[in-house]
Amino acid sequence: MELKDKVAVVTGAATGIGRGLAVAFAAEGARGVVVADINGDRAQESADAINADGGTALAVTTNVADQESVNALVKATEDAFGPVDLFCANAGVLVLGGVHATDDEWRRAFDVNVMSHVYAARAVLPGMVARGEGYLLHTASAAGMLTQLGAAPYSMSKHAAVSIAEWIAITYGDTGVKVSCLCPQAVRTEIAAFLNVAVDTPPSQGGDVSHASLDGVLEPSDVARVVIEGLRDERFLILPHPEVEEYERRRAGDRERWLRGMRRQQARIGLPTF
Ligand SMILES: NC(=O)c1ccc[n+]([C@@H]2O[C@H](COP(=O)([O-])OP(=O)(O)OC[C@H]3O[C@@H](n4cnc5c(N)ncnc54)[C@H](O)[C@@H]3O)[C@@H](O)[C@H]2O)c1
Repeated sequence: MELKDKVAVVTGAATGIGRGLAVAFAAEGARGVVVADINGDRAQESADAINADGGTALAVTTNVADQESVNALVKATEDAFGPVDLFCANAGVLVLGGVHATDDEWRRAFDVNVMSHVYAARAVLPGMVARGEGYLLHTASAAGMLTQLGAAPYSMSKHAAVSIAEWIAITYGDTGVKVSCLCPQAVRTEIAAFLNVAVDTPPSQGGDVSHASLDGVLEPSDVARVVIEGLRDERFLILPHPEVEEYERRRAGDRERWLRGMRRQQARIGLPTF
C-alpha cells in the first residue's frame, strides 16, 4: 500500500511510535490522518503539528479498550475523510511484573494490548471486506515473538496480539484485506522509559534491566520509515530491529536451548524471579 491519498487511523498517536507513524503518513501524502488517543489534549497537539506542517489531521479522543469508543472513532473518520484505508492498532501499555501482578494489571494488559485489536477489527473489517480492500497494521512487539523478561502481563498480551494479527491475516487474506504486524524491540518513547534507563545507566545503578535494548534503541521516526517500507511491500512481519527474525528462528529451532539462553540473560541482568 502506498499512503498517498489514503485515509489512515493511528491509535496511541498522541506520542511515541503512533505519533511517528501519523507524521510519516501525512508526509507521504495521506488524504487524512486521524490521531486517536485516550489523551485528547495531546492528540490535538499532535494533529495541530501535522496540520501546521501541511498535512491533514484530525484528533479523536478514543479509548481503544472500549468497543463503543473504537466504533465512534471509525465513524468520526468516515464523516471527516471517507472509508478507512489503513487502521493502525498501535496504542499499548507496558505492564511489568510476574504472575503476582494484580488481576487488574493483567486485565489492563489484556484489554489495552489485546482486545483493542479485536475491537478495531470488528469496527473496520466489514467495510473493508465489502470494498475488497483495506489494511490493518497491528503494533505488537518483539516481546510477542520472544518474551519480555520481567514483564509477564506484557509478554502474554503481545503474544496474543501477534496471534490475532496472524489469525486475521489468514482468515481475511483472500478478501483483499491486508495485515501487517509491527514487532520492534526498544524504541525511545515514554512507554520505554525504563528501557531507556537501561541503556543510559549501569546495572549497578538499576540500569540494563532489559534485553530489549541490546540491539539498540530506535527513534519513532526510524520505526515509521521501516513501517512505510513494510506497508509498501505488504509484508506481514515488520521488524525495525532485523535481529528479531534470527532470534525467532533460534527459538523455534531449539526451544530448550533458547530458554536456557533467556535464563542466562535474566541472571546477567539480575532480575528478581518475582
Ligand atoms: N517503545 C518501545 O520500546 C516499544 C517496543 C515494542 C512495542 N511497542 C509498542 O508500541 C506501541 C506504542 O507504544 P509507544 O512506545 O509509542 O508508547 P507511548 O507510551 O509513547 O505511547 C502510547 C500511547 O498510547 C496511548 N494509550 C494508552 N492507553 C490507551 C487507550 N486505552 N486508548 C487509547 N490510547 C491509549 C497513550 O496515551 C500514549 O499516547 C505499544 O503498543 C507498545 O507496546 C513499544
